[in-house]
Amino acid sequence: MKRDFLTLKDLSREELDALLKKASELKSGKDANQCLLIGKSIGLLFEKASTRTRISFQVGIYELGAQAIYLNPSEIQLGRGETIEDTARVLSRYLQGIIIRTFTHQKLERFAQNSAIPVINGLTDLHHPCQALADLLTIKEKKGKLKGVHLTYIGDGNNVANSLIEASAMTGIHFTIACPKGYEPNGTIYKKARSEGAIVKIVRNPKEAAKAADVLYADVWVSMGQEKESAKREKLFKGYQLNKRLLKLAKPDVIVMHCLPAHRGEEITDEVIDSPQSVVFDQAENRLHTQKALLELLIK
Ligand code: CP
Ligand code: NVA
Repeated sequence: MKRDFLTLKDLSREELDALLKKASELKSGKDANQCLLIGKSIGLLFEKASTRTRISFQVGIYELGAQAIYLNPSEIQLGRGETIEDTARVLSRYLQGIIIRTFTHQKLERFAQNSAIPVINGLTDLHHPCQALADLLTIKEKKGKLKGVHLTYIGDGNNVANSLIEASAMTGIHFTIACPKGYEPNGTIYKKARSEGAIVKIVRNPKEAAKAADVLYADVWVSMGQEKESAKREKLFKGYQLNKRLLKLAKPDVIVMHCLPAHRGEEITDEVIDSPQSVVFDQAENRLHTQKALLELLIK
């Protein structure tokens, strides 16, 4: 049976642990010559822009011995009205796996339901699970553990926040989000995490949230697809900037994370993202290692 990775919950806790361990081994050079996917072809169908996800997958696929085929929706028949279901059925006859970045999560699910090959979520409006994998590896590397680490997320309760909540529930990270009213993470994901005993909190005041933080995390105020709301959001989120004042309130050994791309001067200041506490480029690098481990797990 094919395995998809549409949300973090598609992995068991044991698989998640093993994946992080495998990613560390791949990063350290162990198994460097293991080309487990020789002769395979893996597609990347992206309906939104991407630097990290696209390139780290393309490089990772190559390093595992397979070829990556980038599918620009406007250059395949999907862009001319072929259905997502038919596209899934056809691509399943050629490829051994596919990474999809799209808008609604339902569209990704529709593809997956009609696909005979593993589908990996490269970001939807609701989830960004590949980002969460890299974030977990980064926190583990920098803090030596996941359980009990206080992660404070400042800003919009978006796809990145939703996946971090699932990641926290699976690993014992204590997750707090400081966000304006009406911009909370997805209610179903939040309630599910709490019902599973996860320590997840929503607060309004970023200063209060920053106090116990081992990790301060920011993402953009305006996600891809929300451009029309830019002016409104920029006004609303003004008080939710990760700046020096906020950094000073956290623990002295706090690390700063951001999934990137950053809108410097908006959700995070230059001095914070460029500070010694910032681990954003290690975090970006870890996309490569965790995704290679994910491909090894899913693609047969
Ligand atoms: N963090 C992330 O997913 O970056 P890209 O949009 O560049 O892929
Ligand atoms: N929340 C952002 C993440 C980009 C990697 C977006 O969806 O645009």
